[in-house]
Amino acid sequence: MEQLMFDRHRRLRSSENMRALVRENHLRPEDFIYPIFVVEGENIRSEVSSMPDVYHVSLDHLNKEIEELVELGVLSVMVFGVPAHKDEVGSQAYDEHGIVQKAISQIKENFPEMVVIADTCLCQYTDHGHCGVIEGGKILNDPTLDLLARTAVSQAKAGADIIAPSNMMDGFVAAIRHGLDEEGFEDVPIMSYAVKYSSAFYGPFRDAAHSTPQFGDRKTYQMDPANRTEAIREAQSDVDEDADFLIVKPALSYLDIVRDVRERFNVPVVAYNVSGEYSMVKAAAANGWVNERDIVLEKLISMKRAGADLIVTYHAKDASKWLREKN
Ligand code: PBG
Repeated sequence: MEQLMFDRHRRLRSSENMRALVRENHLRPEDFIYPIFVVEGENIRSEVSSMPDVYHVSLDHLNKEIEELVELGVLSVMVFGVPAHKDEVGSQAYDEHGIVQKAISQIKENFPEMVVIADTCLCQYTDHGHCGVIEGGKILNDPTLDLLARTAVSQAKAGADIIAPSNMMDGFVAAIRHGLDEEGFEDVPIMSYAVKYSSAFYGPFRDAAHSTPQFGDRKTYQMDPANRTEAIREAQSDVDEDADFLIVKPALSYLDIVRDVRERFNVPVVAYNVSGEYSMVKAAAANGWVNERDIVLEKLISMKRAGADLIVTYHAKDASKWLREKN
């Protein structure tokens, strides 16, 4: 038979162990950051209606939640506070007795090793649901910066290990860095939501955080999904302002951006696998349309492959369990 010339790629796929030898990317529980929604009140552990297996927990249920994560090898949580009272300027965001401050200090007291990341934004705390101060129907940039810096300082005082500002005002990293440094928190890093798109994939989260804007949308501060070079400008500003980590959000529809950011900046890159990406998989799996385990591990490894060092994900517990079963 005449010899055909071609490459035999299948040689390296011949067995499970052969595939394991040449595997280029890996998932570990240490890669995951688990978001937690803490509410005021007592004895509350209620499922978020649009996010199966995600719960609102009150402080008395919080330790159990963290214990479970420790047990699974997850090193880090991102804490979202859902306050009982909202007002025009989101004052519960920077109240030293606010729900998120209490949650942070409780976790650090009971689990000092757990890396606690504070989401730093105003939208859960404002009665209008926007991420900034409003005047005449406009979201004001600079007056919002002071409130963000105050929020970050109050979270650092409560013991937060990392501040994660998510509100997309210009200069937020500079303002928060300055605020933290002034109060002696120069060692607290900033994980900036540098590249955050105005996305329909946040729908279920707004249910969970009760943060749906009461008028308009977030398009004057969050990015247009059509844009790519703008993401580099956003990330560049945050790096110039001394951000320690860069978040790209959402993840799945934006893996090209994760790759762009990875290639241009030498700081840890975080992909935020957002609520809508989570709930779509949960809904399809509940209907028996997809295999949940396989599809979740595939989408998480795709984020690593795109260049993410870390992944914020509501799948963190399940994924850690599945990874352990595999090993
Ligand atoms: C708000 C914030 C949002 C998310 C985290 N912090 C979204 C928003 O703009 O409403 C989304 C997270 C998710 O969808 O999982 N500052």
